[in-house]
Amino acid sequence: MSPRPLIIDCDPGVDDAVALLLAFASPDVFDIVGVTTVAGNVSSTLTARNACIIRDIAERADVPVFAGAAGPLMAETVEAGHFHGESGLGDLAIAEPSCDVSAAHAVHFLAETLVAAAPNSISLAVTGPLTNLALALRLAPEVGRALREVVIMGGARTEGGNITASAEFNIYADPHAARIVFASGLPIVAIGLDATHQVRTTDARMRELGALSSARARAAHQLLRFGEHVERTLAGREGAPLHDPCPIAYLMRPDLFTTVPACIAVETESTLTRGHTAVEFRLQAPTNTRWAAQVDADGVFDELIARLA
Ligand code: BDR
Ligand code: CA
Repeated sequence: MSPRPLIIDCDPGVDDAVALLLAFASPDVFDIVGVTTVAGNVSSTLTARNACIIRDIAERADVPVFAGAAGPLMAETVEAGHFHGESGLGDLAIAEPSCDVSAAHAVHFLAETLVAAAPNSISLAVTGPLTNLALALRLAPEVGRALREVVIMGGARTEGGNITASAEFNIYADPHAARIVFASGLPIVAIGLDATHQVRTTDARMRELGALSSARARAAHQLLRFGEHVERTLAGREGAPLHDPCPIAYLMRPDLFTTVPACIAVETESTLTRGHTAVEFRLQAPTNTRWAAQVDADGVFDELIARLA
């Protein structure tokens, strides 16, 4: 099979960076049309720069990076620098990227690329707040036609939240954008904390990754070590969760994920439960959205390690 056209919309971010490394290392699976960035874990200037840094490590100068929205549609800006380090890339040494972002705004790139593309031809992975996609849908509602699938890291059901008691960070960061996207009728697979908390580093997995000598594997190992430290000190749990690599792994190996049809609504009014995802399995009408319930974590790590080797 020829590589599948893919756009990655992200806010690197330690785990976004690992997701990018995984996708960049898989040219036989993905034809990466572009990487778009958004304010989220850190500012939009830093997320764009970080995507360029990871592109350098992966030696993928052929992939354009487009900087996007500098903040959420309506809500107050929140960042997660405490989870990702001041730079957004943990304790990775920061070198100035060898090339800059492309001139176009991420939202224009998304709208123009998707409007011009054939129906059902492009996959989109979103691993940050949904601001860019919501804006593209407002700019040109027909963007949806080209989207074969939209795989989103976001939301929480049984796990509860990671930024507040009931909200997951990406949805909390821009709940209005998330509401637009989940109400859009797009073919969405939502991979929330219920699934990503199943995919954690362990000593054995880190030993295997640490034994690899490629620059991308070394970077991923350092990023995940940082993630482990943060998870232990801030969340009191062992093992860094691989939130953002999950959508990429899903696109490579959907067989590793169990998904169920769901209807997902997002709380935007309450300050207490801002960004809560109401994930409903008792459907009143057919839905185009699926919720990831189970993941084969060993399978995801096998794929990650084989690709980064
Ligand atoms: C999500 O929030 C961000 O901090 C991570 O990069 C990930 O996309 C997990 O809730
Ligand atoms: Ca992210």
